[in-house]
Amino acid sequence: MPIAASIKKDNSVAGDRTSTDFSQREFPMLSKDFKVIQEVALAETGISLSHHKQEMIYGRIVRRVRALNLANFTEYCTYLQKNLNAELMDFTNAITTNLTYFFREPHHFEYLKDTVIPKIKSNKLNNKKLRIWSAGCSTGEEPYSLAITLKEAGWPAGWDVKILATDLDTNVVAHGKAGQYKKERFEGMDKGVQKKWFSHSINKDENGRESQLLTVEPSLQNMILFRKLNLLQQWPMKGKFDVIFCRNVVIYFSKDTQRVLFDRFADILNPNGFLFIGHSESLNRVTERFETLGRTVYRKKD
Ligand SMILES: C[S@@+](CC[C@H](N)C(=O)[O-])C[C@H]1O[C@@H](n2cnc3c(N)ncnc32)[C@H](O)[C@@H]1O
Repeated sequence: MPIAASIKKDNSVAGDRTSTDFSQREFPMLSKDFKVIQEVALAETGISLSHHKQEMIYGRIVRRVRALNLANFTEYCTYLQKNLNAELMDFTNAITTNLTYFFREPHHFEYLKDTVIPKIKSNKLNNKKLRIWSAGCSTGEEPYSLAITLKEAGWPAGWDVKILATDLDTNVVAHGKAGQYKKERFEGMDKGVQKKWFSHSINKDENGRESQLLTVEPSLQNMILFRKLNLLQQWPMKGKFDVIFCRNVVIYFSKDTQRVLFDRFADILNPNGFLFIGHSESLNRVTERFETLGRTVYRKKD
């Protein structure tokens, strides 16, 4: 192979089928840089970044390269490895994929209303406590959809109801806590539900541009506790949960990481507790601790 061709191959990112040469970009990223990013992501978050994610990762991490006034990704990787504690939050906030929306996978909320809620209501008459965990809650649309479902189902007064909403990414946790969403986030949501649970306001940005904002009713916000939590690390919660929603999160994890996580979910669920996972996720050949109840809905085995 001619020297020039071999250098080019060494400098470009391996496995790049789109033949985009990241070493020729304004801020060059070499094969070894992407490998460091993959390793840190896997070790710290469980997120496995395949080669077809390079373009996306380039676009997200290049903002950190610029913000830190660095010349290329090699400098960024050296900085990341030397200052892991200081940089980890910005690094993880950059690599996470936060796509979510209100009432995503509506059949889950129907199942919750029609099957799970009546069961819990009749089984826990002596201990009127309901605990739900939205694990990997992103910007909060999932826990607010849960809270609205409970309210709309007329959750009885006198019960102690709490939804814990956690995510690794501190930016999305802050967004969820603030409970303010742009109007376009509500496309497809029932207008009556929207009117009932959100108040409308107009926001002006620094350039005087107006946008419509919807703010969550305080009664829903009061049901939810937003916290930063890395699913791979220790969990500070003491009590158990009746329901866990962990949807479209483990899709980025290896099967081994999923196995450990689902085992921990089984440990922290009450007997017969419910687990909801994302549409492209499955417990098949991952764990034996749950039985299937329907489309991506599971119950912990006794
Ligand atoms: C695609 S969003 C899913 C949001 C919501 N559950 C849904 O289904 O619409 C995945 C979320 O998982 C979070 N996440 C990824 N790895 C995580 C980890 N190790 N610990 C906690 N959250 C994590 C990401 O930050 C992201 O917000």
